[in-house]
Amino acid sequence: MATTLPKLVTPLPGPKARTLIERDAQFISPSYTRSYPLVVASGQGAIVEDVDGNRFLDCSAGIAVVATGHCHPKVVEAIQRQAARLIHMSGTDFYYENMVDLAQKLASLTPGGVPRKVYFGNSGTEAIEAAIKLARYHTGRKQFVAFFGAFHGRTMGSLALTGSKNTQKKNFFPLMPGVHHVPYADCYRCPYGKKVETCAVECAKAIEDPLFRTILPPEEVAAIVVEPIQGEGGYLVPPKKFLDELRRIADQHGILLIFDEVQCGMGRTGKMFASEHFDAVPDIVALAKGIASGLPLSATIARAEIMDWKPGAHASTFGGNPVAVAASLATIELLEQELIANAATVGAHMKARLSEFPQRFANVGDVRGLGLMIGIELVKDQASKERTPELRDRLVQMCFERGLLVLGAGPNTLRLSPPLVLTTEQADCAVDIIAECLQTATR
Ligand SMILES: Cc1ncc(COP(=O)(O)O)c(C=O)c1O
Repeated sequence: MATTLPKLVTPLPGPKARTLIERDAQFISPSYTRSYPLVVASGQGAIVEDVDGNRFLDCSAGIAVVATGHCHPKVVEAIQRQAARLIHMSGTDFYYENMVDLAQKLASLTPGGVPRKVYFGNSGTEAIEAAIKLARYHTGRKQFVAFFGAFHGRTMGSLALTGSKNTQKKNFFPLMPGVHHVPYADCYRCPYGKKVETCAVECAKAIEDPLFRTILPPEEVAAIVVEPIQGEGGYLVPPKKFLDELRRIADQHGILLIFDEVQCGMGRTGKMFASEHFDAVPDIVALAKGIASGLPLSATIARAEIMDWKPGAHASTFGGNPVAVAASLATIELLEQELIANAATVGAHMKARLSEFPQRFANVGDVRGLGLMIGIELVKDQASKERTPELRDRLVQMCFERGLLVLGAGPNTLRLSPPLVLTTEQADCAVDIIAECLQTATR
C-alpha cells in the first residue's frame, strides 16, 4: 500500500465487504452507529485499505484516535518489543517501570506547572468516571455542572454528564444523580445573541445566575466538567474568556475544574493539550483516544493534593497495561518530535482553504477549529442558520463514495479529525473532495 491518496477499485461496498457486513449483522451488537459500509483490512499513515482493495484517505482517524497515523513503524515496534517482554501485570497489584515513566511524562506535560498524579484506565469514559469519583471523594460534594452538547462517555456517571443526543440516554435512566447542564459557548449560535468580541460570557455566568442562585447551592458542587473544545457537540471552539470565567467561578466556590481532553488532547489542536490555547489551568484532566495511537488507554491526571484517595478507593485490572503504555510513550515522542507541529501547520493550511467555503457555498455556515480538529457546519442558508442534518449526512456518505473518510459531529457539522501525519497534499485532496461533494449535493 505505497501511495498516499485514495483509489477506489470496486463499487462500494465491494463483494467481500458485503459478505462481512452480513455476518456482522448476525453477531455484532446493533447499538453501534456505522455511518457507511467500510470494512477495514489495513492502514498505513492516513490511508486505510478495505477488504476489497479500495484505498481511502482517513480524516476520521478512528474517531480522533490514531494520532500518529495507522501502524506508525515506531509505535508498532514499541508494541512488539513490549509484547515480547511482558503483556500484563496489573498496576492495581504490582509496580512496573514504564507505567511510572508515562505517569511522570504526563504529569510534566500537563499545563499549570504544579505536581500531578495519574490514574490509568482503558477508555475515555473510564477517565471521566475516575474524575467524577475523585472529585466526589476529595470535595465530599455530590453535584456536577456540565454542558449541553457535551460528550463524556456512556457509562452511568459519564453518561449523566453527557448532553449530546437523547438516544444515548433513552431507556437508561436513572443515571448518576446531581448533574446540571448549562449552554456551552457556541459563538456561531450564541444563545444570548452576542458577538464574541463584545460578549461578557453570559453562558459561563449562567452557572452563577440563574443556576446557583435558584436551584443549586454552589457549596454542594464537586466539579464543573468541560471540554476545552467541544467534540461530539460540533467542534466548538470557545473564546478564551469562557474557560477563564469557569476557572473564576470554580475558584470562588471551592469547585474543581475538570477538563475533558479525551478528543481535543494529544496534539490534535497543534498543542499537546487543547487547554494550552487558553490560560485556564484545570484541576483534573481526562485523556484517552490519541494517547496510545489506538491501544486502549486513558489517564486521569489530577493535582497531586487532590488525588488523595486511599488504597482500594479506585482501581482497574487493565489500566496502565504495559503494551498500551509502551505505545503511548512512543506516541508522545513522535508528537513532540514532529507531529504536533505538523498538526499546527497542515491544520492551518487546511482551515485556511476551508474558510473560503462560506463564500463559495451558501450551505456552509461556519468553519472552525484548531490544528487538525476542524468542523464545517452545514445550514439551509447563512441568514437563517437553520441546521441541515440531512445535507451533512449526505456529504459524509458522498465523501465515502469518493474515498474520503469523515464523520459527523453535533446535529449538522462535518468533522475532520485526521491522523496528525496528514500531509499538505492529503489535506488538499480532502478539501477538494469535500468541495466537489458540496457542489454536487447543493447543485
Ligand atoms: C470528549 C470525550 N470524552 C469522552 C469520550 C468517551 O470516550 P470512550 O468512547 O473511549 O469511552 C469521548 C468519546 O468520543 C469524547 O469525545
